[in-house]
Amino acid sequence: MESRRVEGLRARVVFDSRGDKTVEVEVTVEGYTARAAAPSGKSRGKREVKPFADGGAEGSVRALREASGKIVGETLDGPLAVDRLLREVDGTEDFSRIGGNAALATSAAAAIAYAGSGGEPLYRSLSRYLGADPGIPLPLSNVLGGGAHAGSGAPEFQEYLLIPVGAKDVMEAIEANVLAYRKLGRLLSQEVKGYPLGKGDEGGYAPPVGNRKALELVARAAEEASDETGVRIALGLDVAGSNVFDPRSGRYTLRSDGLYLTGEEMVSFLGELVDRFGIVYLEDPFSEDSPELFAELQRSVPNTFVCGDDLVVTRPDLIRSAIEAGSIRAAIVKPNQVGLLSLAAESARICHDRRALPVASHRSGETTDAYLSHFAVGTWCRLIKCGLIGGERMAKLNELLRIGEEVGSDRLRRLSV
Ligand code: PGA
Ligand code: ZN
Repeated sequence: MESRRVEGLRARVVFDSRGDKTVEVEVTVEGYTARAAAPSGKSRGKREVKPFADGGAEGSVRALREASGKIVGETLDGPLAVDRLLREVDGTEDFSRIGGNAALATSAAAAIAYAGSGGEPLYRSLSRYLGADPGIPLPLSNVLGGGAHAGSGAPEFQEYLLIPVGAKDVMEAIEANVLAYRKLGRLLSQEVKGYPLGKGDEGGYAPPVGNRKALELVARAAEEASDETGVRIALGLDVAGSNVFDPRSGRYTLRSDGLYLTGEEMVSFLGELVDRFGIVYLEDPFSEDSPELFAELQRSVPNTFVCGDDLVVTRPDLIRSAIEAGSIRAAIVKPNQVGLLSLAAESARICHDRRALPVASHRSGETTDAYLSHFAVGTWCRLIKCGLIGGERMAKLNELLRIGEEVGSDRLRRLSV
C-alpha cells in the first residue's frame, strides 16, 4: 500500500462513559486528522496489557507526548503500520511505559487517518489491507447486567445477551434487539416489585433477581419479540467466571440463587441452563485459570459457542492454543486488551482460519467512538458485542447502519445455531 507521512500527534485526557479518565489521541497523516479514544474495562483479565502508564491517564499522555518525536515524521505503508513504531517506543511486553490505552488510541487514530488521507473509510482500508471480505457483524446485545457491572443484589452473571440470528439485515437486527429490551423492561416492572428499572454500566437492566430468574425473563422477552417481528433471537451469556469464582472456598458463588458450586457442578449447572434456555453463546463460563473446565463444558455442549474473554485476552498465541485444546469455539477481540489494532486483527484471523467465531467487543467503560464497528466489518468478526442502549453503545450500532449503506446492509454475517 501507499507510503504516507505522519505529520502530527496530540494526546489528551478525556472521560469514558463511567466517568473514568482515559486517553484520546489525534494523528495527522498527509493533512488528514483523525481522533480516537480508548475504552476501559472493569472486569479485566489478568493477562491484559497495563491500560495506563504510571500516573494513570495523565501519566500515559505525558509518556506518549515524550515518545511522539519517534512517530511524527515517520512514514506508514498501511493502515496498521504505526503499530510497529508503538512497540518500539514502548519497548515493554505489557505496554507499561505508555499504557495500552494510549497505544490503542494512537493505533486507531493513525489507522483512521491513514485510510482517510486516501479517501477511504477505515473498514475498507482494513479489509483491503488484510484481504478480509467486508461483512456486517451480528449485534450481540447486553440487555441485563450483573456482576462487576451492577450494584449488589443484581445477579452474579455479568451479561445477558441477545443475538438476532434470524435477521436479514442490520436494521432488522437492531430493531429486534431493541424490541426485546423494551419487552424485558415491561416484564421486570411487572415481576420485580419496587424495582425502578436501574441499569448496569453497559446499559442493560440490573434488577435484584437470581441468575435463573433473570434468564427466564430475558428468554420470555426474546421470545415475545421474536414472535412479533418474525426474527429469531437467540440467547447468550457472559458469566465473567473469574469474578464468580471464590479462590478461598474453590467454589463458584451464585449467592442470588443460593448456589455454591465446585467446578464440576458448575459444568453441569451451565449445561442445564444451555438446554433449558437454548443458550448459543457462553462467554468465560469459568475462571481464567481453568481452561480444562472450558474444554469439558465445550465437549458437553458442542452446539454452543463457548467463548474466551479473560481466558485469552485477545492474544493471538493464547487464542490459538485455546482453540486447539478444544476449550473454546469463539474468542472476544477487545483491541485495548492488547493495545494494538494489528494484534487484534491477527486474533480475529486466527479464529476465522480455525472456524471459530471472532467477536469484536467494547468495554464496560466506553466512549462514543465507533471505530470498533469499522474494525469488526473490515476484519473477520462475525459478532459485535457493543451493548444496545446508551449513546456510547448505540454509536457503534448506528455506524453499522452507515457502513451497511456502502457494503450492503444484507451482508450481515450469518450464525447457524
Ligand atoms: P469489562 O467487561 O469491559 O468491564 O472488562 C466486559 C466483559 O467481560 O466482556
Ligand atoms: Zn467478558
